[in-house]
Amino acid sequence: MIVPPLLDVQRLSVFYPGSSGGLVLEDLSFSVAEGEKIALLGANGAGKSTLFLTLLGVLAIHSGSVEVEGLVLDKKSLPAIRRKIGLIFQNPDDQLFMPTVYEDVLFGPQNAAPTDSADIGKAAQDILERLEITRLKDRMPHKLSGGEKRLAALAGVLVMEPRLLLMDEPTAFLDPRARRRLVAVLKTLPQTYIIATHDFGLALDLCTRCIVLDKGRIRADGPAAALIGDKALLEDCGL
Ligand SMILES: Nc1ncnc2c1ncn2[C@@H]1O[C@H](COP(=O)(O)OP(=O)(O)O)[C@@H](O)[C@H]1O
Ligand SMILES: [Mg+2]
Repeated sequence: MIVPPLLDVQRLSVFYPGSSGGLVLEDLSFSVAEGEKIALLGANGAGKSTLFLTLLGVLAIHSGSVEVEGLVLDKKSLPAIRRKIGLIFQNPDDQLFMPTVYEDVLFGPQNAAPTDSADIGKAAQDILERLEITRLKDRMPHKLSGGEKRLAALAGVLVMEPRLLLMDEPTAFLDPRARRRLVAVLKTLPQTYIIATHDFGLALDLCTRCIVLDKGRIRADGPAAALIGDKALLEDCGL
């Protein structure tokens, strides 16, 4: 039996409805195998966030296809695909909205499949412990530090056990200590992930593969160390 890749993107093009700017993503093809840790590099406006939103079915596909574990992304498959993909938003304030961290972590599982509430509580506790943020359980998310917010947002996504984790500039606005803490946590994750980032150190530390986007197109896709060492390529892509 042939196992389909975790993510398969073929000739994907996307544009923003109503915008006159033409295609935002143009003819992207790549696939991701289970367990891969990928850095998605690209200057501001290259299309990183747009790609993530498209994979989650928030933005419509203009042409081409997206498949997750062999399931073709369309209206019908969207709920199933959203259960497989977890997105960490660029701004945690867009993600955290419940009165406490604990309630925020509970929110996803409570609204998904009907499970015993004791099991949900256990899963939420476990994830808070794994990320070492149990002490934040009863705090208000909007009063946390930037680093704490990131970890709380990550907890709310990981509790859903996504097959593929997408992170949109997770180290943006973090001080060095909070960044180190986040990197340490990400190193422990078994999940397949794609990190959109400008942080070359993060990419080298966590990822074996890099995809470089330039004005909505894939400019390079290969081993992280080689691509991040290619100064001419990165400069040419505005990085
Ligand atoms: N809501 C939107 N409507 C129209 N164009 C947008 C919208 N959001 C982003 N864009 C445009 O799409 C392109 C890619 O943006 P984005 O995906 O946010 O890039 P990145 O995340 O790599 O910085 C940019 O040219 C940006 O101006
Ligand atoms: Mg972005």
